[in-house]
Amino acid sequence: MPSTNWTRHHILSLADFTPAEYDTVLQTAGSFQEVLSRRTKKVPTLQGQVVANLFFEPSTRTRSSFELAAKRLSADTLNFASATSSMTKGETILDTAKTYLAMGTDIMVVRHKEAGVPHVIAQEMDRLGVKVSVLNAGDGQHEHPSQALLDLFTICTLLDPDHPHLELLKDKKIAIVGDILHSRVARSNIWSFTATGAELHLAAPPTLLPKLFADYGKDRPGKLFLHWQLEPALQDADFVMTLRLQKERMSANLLPSLREYHQIFGITRSKLQLCKPNVKVLHPGPVNRGVEISSDLMDDPEFSLIQTQVTSGVAVRMALLYLIGSGKVT
Ligand code: NCD
Repeated sequence: MPSTNWTRHHILSLADFTPAEYDTVLQTAGSFQEVLSRRTKKVPTLQGQVVANLFFEPSTRTRSSFELAAKRLSADTLNFASATSSMTKGETILDTAKTYLAMGTDIMVVRHKEAGVPHVIAQEMDRLGVKVSVLNAGDGQHEHPSQALLDLFTICTLLDPDHPHLELLKDKKIAIVGDILHSRVARSNIWSFTATGAELHLAAPPTLLPKLFADYGKDRPGKLFLHWQLEPALQDADFVMTLRLQKERMSANLLPSLREYHQIFGITRSKLQLCKPNVKVLHPGPVNRGVEISSDLMDDPEFSLIQTQVTSGVAVRMALLYLIGSGKVT
């Protein structure tokens, strides 16, 4: 593994991530990607440590990806799902976290439908003076740091498989299209992509892209542009990230119909003709097939990086667990 000066104890947000931290994550994930291509895909790095996945909200890929990452690092894993837990008997979030602490948990991976829950657990662990690290696996509409880091890694390894690093994205044009308002992925992506010197273009109907998103671009190395039409965002884009319409978070009818949305903002093969010829399409999943992206495009390996994102996720999460956890190995 690369030697690192990593000092961050919790990973809760990318808002204050430094270029050096991004590059350390990319380089470390690259090393784990190599481990994952071997016959024996396991390393003893976190042997004896306990990683608890505290998922208070449903998840397929993020939860499984963290679990597999922890197992590949030889950690012991505990999986919690609120629907089958003592929370149904009235136990609080902090009491749940303290229960896992009492079992010797070293790293808590936390997902919750309310913004700020991972931060509150991290504060409580710090107040108790214990060395437990907290990793935000998605909090409300706020942030999803590991998803944005795996998106960054997916793009950077495509551009340079042997040396993924931040500089590779300088002057690249990236478009994020879809339900930006409700997306924690988009918020974390905005921090990571504008840290690179890339041009980031956000596109959505006005109801899903309020003007205040422009504030995210202030004083960042990369430029941020907002569009309420698709075409200027797609024009000459190198990468297009599509986002799910998050109906469970929509408080009112923000769109006329899914059919109309697909016609205007859905990413299809013909709309990609506006982009650079070798454009690639990403999506964090889960996908509403035929809504934000056409079904055939989603499955077309010439354009789609969706499966690569899932694969990259394991290496990136191994890197994150390693970086915050290896200091604790005795
Ligand atoms: C995202 C999430 O949960 O925020 N998915 C994921 O973690 N891969 C995006 C979504 O739910 O649309």
